Amino acid sequence: MDFPRVHDASGVRSDGPLRAVAGPVRGAFAPRRNALAVRRLDRGRALPGGARKEADPGLRLLPARLGAAEDRAPDEPVRPPRLSRRAAALAPSSTTAVARKAKALAATGVDVVDLGLGEPDFPTPDFVGAAGIAAIESGRTRYTDVAGEPALRDAIAEKYRREHGIALSRENVLVTAGAKQAVFNACQVLFEAEDEVALFCPYWVSFPEMVRLSGASPLYVPTELETHWKPIASDLAERATERTRGVILNSPNNPTGAVVEREQLESIVEWCEARDSCMIFDETYDRFLYDGRPHVTAASLREEHPDRIVLTGAASKTWAMTGWRLGWAIASRELIDAMASYQSHSTSNASSISQRAALGALSDPAQTDEAVARMLAEYGRRRETMVSGLAAIPGVRCLLPEGAFYAFADVSALYGAKQVAGSAEFCERLLSETGVAAVPGDAFGEDDCVRFSFAAPLASIEEGVGRIAAWAAAPVRSA
Ligand SMILES: Cc1ncc(COP(=O)(O)O)c(C=O)c1O
Repeated sequence: MDFPRVHDASGVRSDGPLRAVAGPVRGAFAPRRNALAVRRLDRGRALPGGARKEADPGLRLLPARLGAAEDRAPDEPVRPPRLSRRAAALAPSSTTAVARKAKALAATGVDVVDLGLGEPDFPTPDFVGAAGIAAIESGRTRYTDVAGEPALRDAIAEKYRREHGIALSRENVLVTAGAKQAVFNACQVLFEAEDEVALFCPYWVSFPEMVRLSGASPLYVPTELETHWKPIASDLAERATERTRGVILNSPNNPTGAVVEREQLESIVEWCEARDSCMIFDETYDRFLYDGRPHVTAASLREEHPDRIVLTGAASKTWAMTGWRLGWAIASRELIDAMASYQSHSTSNASSISQRAALGALSDPAQTDEAVARMLAEYGRRRETMVSGLAAIPGVRCLLPEGAFYAFADVSALYGAKQVAGSAEFCERLLSETGVAAVPGDAFGEDDCVRFSFAAPLASIEEGVGRIAAWAAAPVRSA
């Protein structure tokens, strides 16, 4: 078959056939076809093994570009792409924004004390790293089942049996790229437009955005410093409407460290069951509770895993594995299947190497307990230092957190003296004037507060708290 001679966009003549598509060339393009740039299909190009590529006689012309766009003047610069409404409405994570600012400031030579990041500063334990290395060396570098390697799903189910006496099977487990993806997937399969999802406030920064990305709207249920930031079931019942289809509860809580009381949790689960609502229970910090407090998991409230609860957890904090991206969701088989289906079209399986590392971690409870105990003891020392230092600053109110590794301090009494409008401005001034990075409470829905992370060395905490105290006491600098 003969192909028309055409010139490509660079003016070079081509004798080859035009790049092809299966469908017909649209009528509107046909008259302009010769004026359009086209890409040549390299007929006759040698292929490996000496074969030659034959043109498909059924192929049709594909314009490489459509010429000048009708809605843009020729001399007008190309506009940036239009963002979807979804993306445009999305607020970037404040915690990562603070980290970026702190890094940028440090790059200018400022001695920054970073109390912003919610990331363990401990290395991943050797026995876990070794399992990851073994995975690479033995070639476990291929796709796994979308829902995760069966052995890892079994090991996660076994963790719940061991720690909480809950009977689960691998069909109740989905392995994800971190707890974040587990919560995200759950929101996607459970909620939709018109739904409301209740969030106890202060909430983890990503919850409201994940709810919005599902099409639903967040419904905020406040908790108070005076009641130790504890979620209270009757507050939820009071605020909920008939559109409230879900609750996201995080215990121990980021940013407050509050641990939900068992009776309150029971009442919230009962409320969900009575209301045809679902609960996502995020227990990312399940191993980090102080003063011997036990972790209460929503799954342990019933003999069978409650159909209306999705538990989310991760290897990220327990084994200091944030960068490995490994988490999980626990739910009924039907919900796990729905989430796996969703994941099959987004990220597929979590990293095969991280899955083997997590399997190594979960298969060795003795070494895990030892590693966790070491980290917890160190976090405990830092907690005392940070909270006693902050609470001693006039105008600062701060409770000892029961879990996680954050101090959530009410600094609003300093706003007037520092002439700031709220927590964002407070943190900006704190960073620029003292080099201490912290996350504004408004990112968590509580503008009176600031979150200080004690996942930082003790010396940094002492230095940081000292700088904050001196700054709080100093008169306001004129601009
Ligand atoms: C409450 C909460 N949930 C989920 C996550 C995300 O965990 P991962 O890193 O495993 O995705 C975090 C991380 O800081 C968190 O604080």
